[in-house]
This record gives sequence, structure tokens and C-alpha cells, in this order.
Amino acid sequence: MFALRSPSVAYDPAMTAPGLLHASHDPVTSPDPLDPLTRLLPSSPASAPAGPLTTAARLLAESLLGEMGDRWLHTRGVAERAAGLAAPLGVDADLLTAAAWLHDIGYAERTVVTGFHPLDGADHLTRGGWPVRVAGLVAYHSGARFVAAARGLSEALAVYPDERTVLADALTYADQTVGPDGARVDPASRYAEMLHRHGPCSWNARVDADRGPYLRAIARRVEYLLSFTEAGALP
Ligand SMILES: [Fe+2]
Repeated sequence: MFALRSPSVAYDPAMTAPGLLHASHDPVTSPDPLDPLTRLLPSSPASAPAGPLTTAARLLAESLLGEMGDRWLHTRGVAERAAGLAAPLGVDADLLTAAAWLHDIGYAERTVVTGFHPLDGADHLTRGGWPVRVAGLVAYHSGARFVAAARGLSEALAVYPDERTVLADALTYADQTVGPDGARVDPASRYAEMLHRHGPCSWNARVDADRGPYLRAIARRVEYLLSFTEAGALP
């Protein structure tokens, strides 16, 4: 099992994968700059110091996606975006940023089983002993459940918790505001580019009628919350 230091959130045991039921949740410690893992890390694009989940997630993401060109640039951009959203939205920065680093690992050749990247990514994390909440965030990011339903993969995805939280919204919003090359974009432009890139016969195009409004609603929720934080206080 992947040796992972404890997350900084109190995970619900009911949301823990079978293989992780006895994972220890020791008190959180800051990354040790003398830790060999920490010293091997690439420079972080995130503004906040990396927590233990983020540290491990960044290492795994780079090992799987680091040679994949734009996919890696996109991943770095989403991680940076997520790290910047955590404090304004009042969510766990370590969990959100870790999920952002990992959200597209299902595209890596070593993880592909079904060819549906949210599910393949989540399954890879589960095999590696990651907390099921991280796997669930990866499994359901950016409206994956609509494509899963169209592809007959809903049951496979349903082994993961589909949390409907501000944190899950923030992950999707980060993914939907960073383009394929890692540049910041608005959600509408990102969605239009995605549909164009995948083509009119793609799974994404086939579920557009349901997934499009779902993603737009997430963007509205997140931007509503951010408008209050920009004004100085959450509602
Ligand atoms: Fe992505």
C-alpha cells in the first residue's frame, strides 16, 4: 500500500475504501524540507505551502504525466488554480490541491484500463492506497457522471463517494478555468474549446445537454462565493 502521511481533514470512515479502513490518521505535520521526498519535488506553482497530501499527489502526478506535454501543463495550471481557490472558498487546501494534481492521471498510459479517465484515475489511486475521498473527487470531477452514464460505467463509478460540496465544486471550477496548455481561461471558453477538440461525435458532445448546464451551475456557485470573499467576507 502507498505510504501516505495523514490528510489534514477528518475523513469519514464510511467514505474510506475497504483497503484503507485501518489507515492511521496521525496528527498533521508540515512537510520537512530535509525529507528526501520533499527535496525531490519540482518547484510548486501553488502559493501556499504544500501539505502532506499535496506533496504526495504532486510526486505521483509528475511520475505519470510529467512527460505528457500539454497534459502536464494543464495539470500544473489546475493545481495552481485550486490552491488559490481554497482559502477564498474556505475549503481544505491540502485535499483540494492534491485532488487537482491527480484529477487527470487517468490519461497516463500506466493507469488506463477502461479508457474513461476519471474512473481509471480513481481506480489507480485506490490500488495505491489513497484515501477514498481523494479517489471520489477524481472520479466525479467536471461532470464525469454524465459521461459515465452514457458509456455504461455508472455502476463502476458508484463505488466512489460523489460528494456534493464546495470543495468538489472548486475542483471542477479549477479544471474548467484552465485550458489544455495551462493558461487561465473563462469557463464558457474552456467548455466550447473542449467540445470542439473532442468533436461532435464524442462522449462529451453526446452528454452536452446535461453536462453543460451542470458545469455552468458550478461556475455560478463558485463565482457567487468568490464575489463575497472579494468583497471581504463570505455570506
Ligand atoms: Fe483536467
